Formats: sequence, C-alpha cells, structure tokens
Amino acid sequence: MSMTTSSVKAQSPRFYRSVPPARAVPSLIDDVRKGLLASPRSLPPKYFYDDKGSRLFDAICDTEEYYPTRTEDALLKRSAKDIIASLQPAHVVELGSGTSRKTRRLLDACEEQGCHATYWPFDVCESMVQGTAEALMDEYTWLRVQGLVGDYHAGFEHFPGFDGCSLFVFLGGTIGNLDHEQAVAFLSELRRSMGDGDALLMGADRVKDSGVLHAAYNDSEGLTAAFNLNVLRVLNREIDADFELDAFEHKAIFNREDSRIEMHLVSKQEQTVSLNALDETIAFGKGESILTEISRKFTPDSLDALLAEAGFRIQRHYEPDDGFFSLVLARPNG
Ligand code: SAH
Ligand code: TRP
Repeated sequence: MSMTTSSVKAQSPRFYRSVPPARAVPSLIDDVRKGLLASPRSLPPKYFYDDKGSRLFDAICDTEEYYPTRTEDALLKRSAKDIIASLQPAHVVELGSGTSRKTRRLLDACEEQGCHATYWPFDVCESMVQGTAEALMDEYTWLRVQGLVGDYHAGFEHFPGFDGCSLFVFLGGTIGNLDHEQAVAFLSELRRSMGDGDALLMGADRVKDSGVLHAAYNDSEGLTAAFNLNVLRVLNREIDADFELDAFEHKAIFNREDSRIEMHLVSKQEQTVSLNALDETIAFGKGESILTEISRKFTPDSLDALLAEAGFRIQRHYEPDDGFFSLVLARPNG
C-alpha cells in the first residue's frame, strides 16, 4: 500500500529546548558506581522518570491513598487567584513539572485575570515536557509554552533570561526528595538565579500519622511498587544490567526520627546481578536493599527554617485544616 502524506500524522513541532548543564553532573555510570556499588546501596531519584516511570508516577497521583496531589491541588485552587493577582507574573517557571496537572490552577487564574504569562515547564523527562506543552497549548489558546529539558541539579546559569516578574513553582513535595544539605544547596542556587521581585511557590508534605503516610507509599493497586521497580528496568536498558524485577520487592517505611519516608528495593533472595556497561557484578544477600528515594516530611517550623537558610522568607503559607500539606509563597530575602 502506498503511503500518502495525508495518511501520516504530521509530526508536531518541538515545543522544548535542552538546558545545557552549567556544571558537570555525574553520569548514570558515575551514580551507579557511587551509590549502587557502595554500602549501603542507593540510587538518585531522577532515574525513575523515563517515559514509563513518568506515566506510573502520574497514575500514583490518582490513587486513593496518595493524598498529596489532591491536597495540593485544593490549596492551589483556593490560592491561585490571589497569587496571580499580587504578582502578575510575566513568566511561570516550573521545576520538575511532570504533567503540570496542578499548574492548571495557576494558568486558569492567569486566564481569568488576563495575565498572559509564558509558561516554562522544566523536567528531566523529555517526552513529558513535549506532551505537556502540546496539551496545554490546546487547552489555553493564549498561552505561550516553552519547554525546558534538563537536570535541575546542574545549575540555572543556562536558563533563558526571564524579563519581568517570574513565579518559580516547585510542587508535589519534591523538595522532600532531597536531604537537608541538598535542599539548602538547591534552593540557595535557585534564590541566586532569581530577581528580587520574583517569587517561589513550593509544596511540601507534612509530618502526620504513620498509617496515612505508609498507605500513600504502598498503594493497594501496586503502582508505587511498579514505579519503584521500574528503576531497575532503566538500569537494564541504560547500562546493560540484568536485574530480574521479580526478584526484588518494594518497601516503603516511615522513619519518624528522621521525619522521612524511605523507599527501598529489597532483594527477595541471594542473587548476583551483572552491570555489563561497568564490567561489574553485585552480589545481593536475601533482604539486602537499595535505598531508591527519601521523601521528607516537614513541620511549619522546619519548612520555615529550610527556606530561611536558603535565603527566602515565607510570605503566605496555605494549609488545609488537617495540616496534611503546605503550599508556601516565598520571596527572596533582601
Ligand atoms: N510536579 C509534579 C511531578 C512531581 S514528580 C507533581 O507535583 O505532580 C517529580 C518530577 O520531577 C518528575 O516529573 C521528574 O521527571 C522531575 N525530576 C526529577 N528529578 C529531576 C531533575 N534532577 N531535574 C529535572 N527534573 C527532575
Ligand atoms: N515527590 C513524590 C513524593 O515524595 C515522589 C514519590 C511519590 C515517589 N511516590 C513515590 C518516589 C514512590 C518514589 C516512590 O511523594
């Protein structure tokens, strides 16, 4: 059958550009050597988010147990109007934007108020940035979307120059995926890239009953387990490893002392895994685990202290009656 051009879906233009790293960032191989071949074993979280991982994360957000998404969405719904009215941003720049599902609350407020901001979703997952940009430009005909693909730990010097007031957005409690030092370094670096009139809107999860936290990271459909295990599939593909996904299990526990959820992949048996690209093998004992993610839980005081240490002051703090989640509007400190 001959293929006419009309039978082929026109390829849509690219709605993103890459942000080159401002400094060298470790490669996957470096990270594997440093984390997976060390004791205790760990991996940085950014490797979760290939196309499949990003879709799984989005599905987690729809589960009954994962309260952060709907809680933060409700906070955005009630605060967006005031935030947009007070800042009138020329740019909305979102770090780790994913599907930008909750950001629509801010864009709705922009639309209502005739504030024609440009939206810059920035994420390590290229397919997500492209797909999200396409969807948003369909939904908001007035909106300019300029996707950015890169690693937000590689510095912000190669970000485009944003003229006029910029609202930086960092949602989902993702700040909690960094330990204290990493979070201070990350936020300080962001602060230094911001102008005095800019603002940061950040979501952070709160300390609460362990049962609620445990359920949020152990959903009954097994999506969180599939998401966690997906990082092994990424390693199989990217460094020619031979992890058997069935030979590991997902475990998430709340460490109250350190106020954080810890996500592990636990070896169900004694086993040896080859990492062919590194010419290495790992011998796992039964019960031995890899720490794949931490998710820190804050109190209003610990959140305030973190932001202060990074050079911000909280201007508005939105929270639900049950104190399950915080959405803060922070301004650079003079
Ligand atoms: N903001 C969304 C998604 C949160 S999940 C929400 O609130 O639901 C974390 C997001 O950060 C994912 O989309 C992931 O791809 C992105 N991400 C993780 N590490 C990153 C990094 N180092 N640089 C840029 N984006 C990263
Ligand atoms: N930022 C999310 C959080 O800390 C990331 C996340 C949710 C996650 N569920 C997860 C990471 C499961 C790893 C595994 O809540």
